[in-house]
Amino acid sequence: MCGILGIITLKPRAIGRDLVAGGKRLSYRGYDSVGCAVMSDGKIDLRKDVGKVDEVSKKLNFSEMHGDRGVIQLRWATFGAPSKNNAQPHLDCDGDMVGAHNGNIVNTPQLREQFMREGHTVRSTNDGELCIHAVEKYYDEGYNMVDSIRKAYGDLRGDYAFIIFNNKEKKLYAVKKGSGLVVGIGKDEMYCSSDLPSLLPLTKKIIFLSDGEIVSLSPKEAKVFGVSDGKEIKKKIIEYRENAEHAKKGGYEHFMLKEINEQPVAAEDLIELLDESEYADKFLDVIKSSDKVFFVGCGSSYHACLLGSYYFGNIAKKVVIPVVAPQFISEYGHTVDDKTCVVLVSQSGETKDVINAMNYAKEKTDKILGVINVIGSTLMNSSKVYLPLAAGYEVSVPATKTFINQCVMFLYLAKKMGGKSCDDMKKLPPLIKDTIESTTDDCKRLAGYLKKWDDMYCLGYGSTYGIAREAALKIKEITYSHCEGMYSSEFKHGPLSAVRRGYPVMFISSLKDVDVIVSHMNEVICRGGRAISIAEKSEGMVRNASELIELPHSTDYFSPVLAAIPAQLIAYYLSVSRGINPDFPRNLSKTITVD
Ligand code: AGP
Repeated sequence: MCGILGIITLKPRAIGRDLVAGGKRLSYRGYDSVGCAVMSDGKIDLRKDVGKVDEVSKKLNFSEMHGDRGVIQLRWATFGAPSKNNAQPHLDCDGDMVGAHNGNIVNTPQLREQFMREGHTVRSTNDGELCIHAVEKYYDEGYNMVDSIRKAYGDLRGDYAFIIFNNKEKKLYAVKKGSGLVVGIGKDEMYCSSDLPSLLPLTKKIIFLSDGEIVSLSPKEAKVFGVSDGKEIKKKIIEYRENAEHAKKGGYEHFMLKEINEQPVAAEDLIELLDESEYADKFLDVIKSSDKVFFVGCGSSYHACLLGSYYFGNIAKKVVIPVVAPQFISEYGHTVDDKTCVVLVSQSGETKDVINAMNYAKEKTDKILGVINVIGSTLMNSSKVYLPLAAGYEVSVPATKTFINQCVMFLYLAKKMGGKSCDDMKKLPPLIKDTIESTTDDCKRLAGYLKKWDDMYCLGYGSTYGIAREAALKIKEITYSHCEGMYSSEFKHGPLSAVRRGYPVMFISSLKDVDVIVSHMNEVICRGGRAISIAEKSEGMVRNASELIELPHSTDYFSPVLAAIPAQLIAYYLSVSRGINPDFPRNLSKTITVD
């Protein structure tokens, strides 16, 4: 998704360099064009094009851009094809004002027509340009910048944030409505950006903006105003402690591999945090006092919800409905009341589908719980109680350590709620480490076999169903092959017809379900297919599977978590063998902030 970052500084300097560095930190979000605008000697210097930050900034020499305020934008196309013209930032009609947005302006066609009718020079088909004309319109009528933005806010429909400045006042303005926007306080400098991690190398002093707030930044001051009445709002400055290690690959070829290898430590940190914090109890108190509980998420986070509902049902004896976020409102919305608890699970805490579900649920219940990884995210700030995943910053688009920690979190909570001891949870991180070490070679070899197939299945049963879905998502996401994840018993109800000689079907099984999985494997094998099993060693598996990726011996509740690891490794090595960069798969973004 798009990312924006702005800087205003007391003395003019080569801020292009910092904007590029900040832009790179936003590049994990996925994008197809880049642009930079800097106020230089009374003129706006705007450069932009299609391509990656390194490429475009080198070609257009962003680093030499000199001035006292500027903005960089990384665009992930929704309104208007990826092109130089549609790349952001955009100028107003006479080139006195410039800005860039992040999000979607849903009334784009109407506004474009209106602005053109009113005589504006509309140069692109991109919705970001409309934010600039919307402000320009009121500014030209004599309103100051804050009031112009307030009025524009009334005209622009959708969820967005934008940064804007003009050549008249030494200020940088930004507004937030539904998309992330964070302000950083520096020494004689101020910053604002779509996310917190992109600001942390610049400053640790942070202000989180809420929807409906405008920030006016000068080099020494950050003032926040409410859109509704234009009055100044006093905001808290939060001081962060974080190191920048996350931004480095630490000797690994890709962030994804580094993050897979960080999983044992991430799980250990999470378990420690849950042991020590009183928030797990507070979180569970809300669940216990509820008649209905939903686990809501998207993509990998939803798959963790599938396993989470299994754990809660089986261990805590509490029925939980796992649901993909966009389905929540349409299918279950009418059932939500003040006795309903909605647990929203999102590593970024910004996924639009999840935020929509949260906003909807909030109207009907205050039992809103969040499970997030990004501190300061919208979901964190809006939850009654939230639990952090403590996985550290995840750069790679495919979720790995955050997914594992979501599963670990659900297991821990289910055990606690079911009155079981959580002491044995400490055995899980070393098992995760063992699994990485003992399965890597087999996964590499298997990736070699799978390379010639563009289509495969991944099946699970009971506790491993969510993991099978997750394995299939990982393969699709970073290898560009079709892979479907489903309940293994469903395979015979249609997909079995795909099986032919050598056709790969992966089976993920816990010890408990070996017998049923063995029958499903044989339905594939007897038709010439290749049944690849990810499971602990058992007689059934050894005798039946065409190939076994062996998990270390553990428990029925640990083994689904462990099984996710070979699935990540298979996807990773298959991706690399196809020459794909698994960290940044095409068309995708780490943080999906659009509907
Ligand atoms: C998984 O590898 C994905 N990158 C994706 O499915 C992701 O889990 C989904 O977009 C939800 O993101 P969130 O956890 O930040 O809400």
